[in-house]
Amino acid sequence: MTSPVRIAVTGAAGSIDYSLLFRIAAGEVFGKDTPVALQLIEIPQAMSALEGVAMEIDDCAFPLLEEMVLTDDPKVGFDGANVAFLVGGMPRKAGMQRADLIRANGPIFVGTGEALNEVAADDIRVVVVANPCNTNALITMANAPDIPNERFTAMTRLDENRAKSQLATKAGVPVKSITNLGIWGNHSNTMYPDFFNAKIDGKPVTDVIDDHSWLKEEFISTVQGRGSAIIEARGASSAASAANAAIDHVRDWFTETPENDWHAMAVPSNGAYGIEEGLIFSFPVRCDGKGNYEIVEGLEINDFAREKIETTKSQLLEERSVVEELLG
Ligand code: LMR
Repeated sequence: MTSPVRIAVTGAAGSIDYSLLFRIAAGEVFGKDTPVALQLIEIPQAMSALEGVAMEIDDCAFPLLEEMVLTDDPKVGFDGANVAFLVGGMPRKAGMQRADLIRANGPIFVGTGEALNEVAADDIRVVVVANPCNTNALITMANAPDIPNERFTAMTRLDENRAKSQLATKAGVPVKSITNLGIWGNHSNTMYPDFFNAKIDGKPVTDVIDDHSWLKEEFISTVQGRGSAIIEARGASSAASAANAAIDHVRDWFTETPENDWHAMAVPSNGAYGIEEGLIFSFPVRCDGKGNYEIVEGLEINDFAREKIETTKSQLLEERSVVEELLG
């Protein structure tokens, strides 16, 4: 019998998780042959709501779901976890930037890092969804010194997906025609969706879309501002699309990236492209199918792209300085 992959999820009674847990239990991350155990973590005040979510999960009779743990104790929730989705935190409201959440959400990740360090499985892999996700991942990593740094990532897949959808609509092609779409930097209004290196049906985006001023202005600002636009329109931050991107992120971390393609993941920098080592920065990455990734090196970065990358890097350095005392 295969033992289940133990998946810990925080903020388990929240709205992102309401779109996430059922899909994990249905096998959308590790496939239809891999049993899973869900370790659901909430704050004490949300435990009753979590029990309701768990009843619904029970009522789906998912064949792959072997066990469910409900807890408000991170040391129980992360115990033996192979993967952790860190979703819990205060969500952004209208008029706020993601970085405004730093003081509310940053301290949570100190305890999360310590608990992961103490009780998670040796092969633990972490994706941070709660904003500001790059800096929250940095705090978690800094407080988990026994876990290799490369296991800590933050989610910029939502930005990749948003950028692909915008390009596909503009070019009048299906979304699957868009490949090699990297996101650079922070999951924030400074991120840089790299259309110069992206492709449409194997051709450079700039050859297929003639309107280069749209690419340089409207396209970038639409992707950068999409989270805010959703908050304005819906009165609440994105939930189903964030859950979908979290699934894409972890599934593709364990899937061999097709030849000549890449995905966006915020990972600890190895110094590539002049980004400070250790900063959690989104790069184009390729995965080997065994839970390892590498930053795609050697891409052409022109002056336009370099300026954007420097802007988002400065913002991340600024965020890092705000949370200095949480970095141990
Ligand atoms: C998003 O990009 O939609 C989420 O990160 C929520 C937010 O605050 O924008």
